[in-house]
Amino acid sequence: MTRITVTTREGVEHRLEAGDGSLMEAIRAAGIDELLAMCGGCCSCATCHVWIEDEWIDQLPPVSVDEDDLLDSSAHRDRRSRLSCQVPLSDVLDGLRVTIAPED
Ligand code: FES
Repeated sequence: MTRITVTTREGVEHRLEAGDGSLMEAIRAAGIDELLAMCGGCCSCATCHVWIEDEWIDQLPPVSVDEDDLLDSSAHRDRRSRLSCQVPLSDVLDGLRVTIAPED
């Protein structure tokens, strides 16, 4: 299990535990609906944008060309930005902290 702390746009912290799958799937499964994830994880919508807390950024797989293009479409992209559907969960990420990025 991977323990994750998700902060919503309103600043509410949710602590969840997830097994396999993506960070997006874990957030949605926890009932945090403000992360729309409209494309279902196909890397084509950017509505699963999150900010990764600094200490975890280097633990994630590199950003793909498609993810990079989609993140560029967001006015809220910064160095912490990732599409949560492109972040596979694993034990290495136990303790991960993320914030849902503002809506575009
Ligand atoms: S869910 Fe659409 S890009 Fe992540």
